[in-house]
Amino acid sequence: MKGIVLAGGTGSRLWPITLATSKQLLPVYDKPMIYYPLSVLMLAGIREVLIITTPQDAEPFARLLGDGSKWGMSITYKVQPAPNGIAQAFVIGAEFIGADDVALVLGDNIFHGPGLTKILRTARQDVDGCMLFGYAVSDPERYGVGEADEDGRLLSIEEKPTAPRSNRAITGLYFYSNDVVEISGSLQPSARGELEITDVNKVYLSQGRARLQDLGRGFAWLDTGTYESLNEASQYVQVIQHRQGGRIACLEEIALAQQWITPEQCEAAGLSLGSSDYGKYVVSVARAASAQR
Ligand code: DAU
Repeated sequence: MKGIVLAGGTGSRLWPITLATSKQLLPVYDKPMIYYPLSVLMLAGIREVLIITTPQDAEPFARLLGDGSKWGMSITYKVQPAPNGIAQAFVIGAEFIGADDVALVLGDNIFHGPGLTKILRTARQDVDGCMLFGYAVSDPERYGVGEADEDGRLLSIEEKPTAPRSNRAITGLYFYSNDVVEISGSLQPSARGELEITDVNKVYLSQGRARLQDLGRGFAWLDTGTYESLNEASQYVQVIQHRQGGRIACLEEIALAQQWITPEQCEAAGLSLGSSDYGKYVVSVARAASAQR
């Protein structure tokens, strides 16, 4: 399975912060926002990732993430000339996806919770059509909203409904069979001129091939779309990390656990981050792994 992080868009709700930089490069406490969605793909065991950016932000993303080899991954880049819809990711990424299944994660979505790795692994194995993840929210009208039966089969899905049928927001993490490329390629732009991800999901719904899994109450699905929610996301990461001593979305730690890099490579990666706390953490994780061998 391949992975795509969609990291385009104007970030206009965060202006002027995002006038000169990409939203997905902004800090969420101690790391750039894109580390969080990228870590989700890594936890799913996905090693080949395409990052889609705006034309003007392609260079800093490449500077930050490189070719992915520091995490034993392959990271490549494409640009989306204008924010013409989330589903355009599959049109832009068609060549990259090739004959594989694909996971898409929005570059501004943060997930954290118990058993996330297991959920991701299972979703990846079982995907036949589309696998969506639902999260109970108090303001569902701001999101895609879905309903599922007891077996997790999607029953309905609507984009930003004025009268939501449930409080289940559809999060920005999607697993698809390879035919998502064909389905996205045949979509018509919506009234707001976008290739809508919800329209892709409606095709799978009509084929009886759409599933919706709930992320339970113990999960955090964090928003970064406003000044307040961006600040809250940073506070969440700070509080959990401080309390537990671990790190959320430490890419080197995940790569090491996946055995994509050796403890020596992990240590070198940590040392290259100088005296930052993040770098020191990476070094400590690497040394603990070396000591256990
Ligand atoms: O976050 C989950 C929600 O994401 C889902 O519940 C909705 O069904 C889905 O449509 C989407 O809603 P948003 O209103 O959050 O979409 P937005 O246009 O804000 O885009 C989400 C992210 O994707 C944002 O960081 C920018 C990026 N993006 C968006 C579009 C439309 C792109 O990179 N390119 C695009 O063309």
